[in-house]
Parts: sequence; C-alpha cells; structure tokens
Amino acid sequence: MTTTPTLEVYLQPEQLRAALRKDATVGLTSNPKWLPPKYFYDARGSELFEQITALPEYFPTRTERELLRRYSGEIAEVAAPEILVELGSGSSEKTRLLLGAGTRHGSLHTYVPQDVSVSALEGAAEQIGVEFPNLTVRGVVSDFTESLHHLPRGGRRTIAFLGGTLGNMVPAERAEFLSGIADVLEPGEHLLLGVGLVIDPAVLVPAYDDAAGVTAQFNRNVLQVLNSQLDADFPVDEFRHVALWDAGNEWIEMRLEAERAMSIRIAELDLDVEFAAGEQLRTEISAKFTLDGVRRELAEAGFGVDRTWTDPDERFALVCAARR
Ligand code: SAH
Ligand code: TRP
Repeated sequence: MTTTPTLEVYLQPEQLRAALRKDATVGLTSNPKWLPPKYFYDARGSELFEQITALPEYFPTRTERELLRRYSGEIAEVAAPEILVELGSGSSEKTRLLLGAGTRHGSLHTYVPQDVSVSALEGAAEQIGVEFPNLTVRGVVSDFTESLHHLPRGGRRTIAFLGGTLGNMVPAERAEFLSGIADVLEPGEHLLLGVGLVIDPAVLVPAYDDAAGVTAQFNRNVLQVLNSQLDADFPVDEFRHVALWDAGNEWIEMRLEAERAMSIRIAELDLDVEFAAGEQLRTEISAKFTLDGVRRELAEAGFGVDRTWTDPDERFALVCAARR
C-alpha cells in the first residue's frame, strides 16, 4: 500500500503572524526585552537550524542520533507504538531510525510529524513517504504550545519530542506542556523525550556559539522575520550573538546585543522600540536536565519513566515514559 503523505494545517500563516504581532508587542516593550522561540523557524531559519545540526560544536544532534541508532529497537519494544506522533519534527532526519525500528517491530502503521514550519514539514513528509511506503504519513502544521487535541487517535500512540526542544521552555511552560500531553494520552501510551543533560559549560557553550557563526546567523534571523513579517527596520548585522551558561537556572541563554543605541520602527505595530548601546534582547533558552529532574517533572505531569538511555559521556538522554 502506498499513499501520498497528507498535510493538515491548523495554523495558517496569518494566525502565526497575528501571534507574532502580539508576542512582539509584549516582548519588545518589556524590560528586559525578549521574544518567544517559535519565530526562528521560517524557511530560512529551518534551513539554518539544519546547518547547526551538522556543526562540529553542536554535539546534541549527533549524540541523539547515535542513541536512536543503538536503542530504537528497545524503544519499539517498550512503547510498541502503532502511531508515532512527533512534535517539532523539523526535518525528521533522526526519526527514520525510530520509524525503521517501529516497522520492524511490526506495530507501527502511522507517522504524524508536527511542526510550526510548513517548509520543514513538506520536505520531511514527502521523503519519509518515499522511504517508508507502508507507513501512513500525516503531517500536521500547528503550535505544540496550544491544544494538542487534534492529534490522531485510532491506535496506541507514542509522542516523540526530540532534539532537546523541551529545554526551550521555562519550567512553568514545561509543566503546562507536559500536562497537556498527558491530557491527550490514554493510560499506557508513551512519551519519548530527547533531552540535553547538564554538562561542563566549556563543552556546552560552543554548541551555541560556533566558530563559523552559523548559530549567530540563526539567532539574528529572528530579526529578519520581524523585518519581513511586521515591516520593521532592525539593522540585523548590528546585533551581536550572545550565548551564556546560566548556572543557577541550568540553561543556555541566547541573546542579541545592540552594538549601538538605536530606535527601531515596527510599522505594522505602529511601535517605536528604543535600544541602548549594549542592550540585550533574550531570544531563546536551552535548559539542560538531570535524569532525576526529568523524572520529577514527568511524575508531576502524570507520567512514569519506563526506561532511560544515555551516551557514554552522559551528554544527552532518551527518556521513555508511560501515561499513568
Ligand atoms: N526535532 C528536530 C528539530 C528540533 S528544532 C531535531 O531534533 O533536530 C525545534 C523544532 O521545533 C523546529 O523544527 C521548529 O520549527 C519546531 N517548533 C518550535 N516551536 C514550535 C511550536 N511552538 N510548535 C510547533 N513546532 C515548533
Ligand atoms: N532545540 C535546540 C536546542 O536547544 C534549538 C537550538 C539549537 C537553538 N541552537 C540554537 C535555538 C541556537 C536558538 C539558538 O539545542
């Protein structure tokens, strides 16, 4: 049986733009200034993120891929998914390992990649459809921080959330997000998390501040998104990429620093935003975890951890948890 992948759109470009208008108004008039992370991923941003995953300094993707290569068989046995839903699936590149194991295990019949980025999803869904002709592939364009109730039923589900993306939320957002997932799952269905672990900042920081400057381009791209979506006039090249380890919060914080004082016109919002020289805009956090911490957060949301897998250097973990 070969069916063409379908794409269900629950988030129209115009809705995303409306959300951006609201978030930019709040974030850019706050002190300190900040922006939510989902706006990084326009077509250019998704492309730059793919480049990040191949950087020598950016170990998370490589490490997680190796874990999936080794342990996808065990994951398929523990979770026995009939439907694999992946939130923030991006290019779905590493997910092939899970799909291969799930089909070999015999249970898996459907893959549902979900992302806010249409461009990433379209390419990924098509390729997976070709590589796994026996899988039903249903792409979903939506925002995973909103309702997850449109996710499919009709079989035992595993929701995968890989790439350490959980760490891009602050603890209160994570609690809400994990409870939201628990709400849509039935007892015995699984959540598979890929999370970065707390490690030496000397290894961690370069992963978010690479020598070739790709991460800097990725970070600055969010200003380009504001320029094109909201008719703003950020001089993108006059913002410096900053990545620092916040030891108290155990997260990497990404910022953009204005190299000089400037006044930015955001025409669509009829808003002028002042930056002092050296003022920083917070664009992203990437929290790192301990296994005990992940277990605790999952328990509070209604999950029990079945298995965890880590690499020999304990930089990254896969965590498979069941809805209680
Ligand atoms: N899972 C992939 C991609 C990680 S990057 C990997 O492991 O390599 C984070 C992904 O989450 C991007 O593809 C981005 O478009 C998506 N994303 C970010 N915020 C989102 C949101 N609020 N809703 C849906 N997808 C989101
Ligand atoms: N989920 C990725 C992470 O936290 C996203 C990411 C990688 C990222 N590099 C970045 C986000 C640089 C902003 C800036 O590892």
